[in-house]
Amino acid sequence: TQRTFSIIKPDATKRNLTGKINAVIEDAGLRIIAQRRIHMTEAQAKRFYEVHKERPFYGELVETMTSAPVVVQVLEGDNAVARYREVMGATNPEQAAEGTIRKLFALNVGENSVHGSDSLENAAIEIAQFFSEADIAG
Ligand code: GTP
Ligand code: MG
Repeated sequence: TQRTFSIIKPDATKRNLTGKINAVIEDAGLRIIAQRRIHMTEAQAKRFYEVHKERPFYGELVETMTSAPVVVQVLEGDNAVARYREVMGATNPEQAAEGTIRKLFALNVGENSVHGSDSLENAAIEIAQFFSEADIAG
């Protein structure tokens, strides 16, 4: 079993979709073992997306992620990192498969409703940025 890190992004919280997205996550067999709603500071968003800092959309990304509250989560399950990437669908919702969160709810590539870690190593790093072990109950 693995843990992965998830964010329900501002475009989704603004449209009151937290529960609907959580239902897709749980129906896929992933367990939400920690969850908190926060309004990310600019510093938090910049640090979280540091790997993208040379990309042309970095400024827009930080602005979008701090535009409204997000829900940060730890998900647990068999093969959770890859499983959640599957459940999220492609980064660009136009390319996302039927039934995926991004196909169901995303507006465009910048407002694509969710984040999920892309490796087990990054999952641990990202979880530690937002949760202490005491906040996680598996
Ligand atoms: P995350 O789970 O959010 O990391 O998505 P991802 O792994 O599918 O995509 P990636 O890590 O490549 O990019 C991170 C985030 O940057 C994406 O989720 C998008 O919201 C945003 N992003 C990526 N490409 C573009 C782009 O061309 N334009 C804009 N505005 N945003 C982009
Ligand atoms: Mg990514």
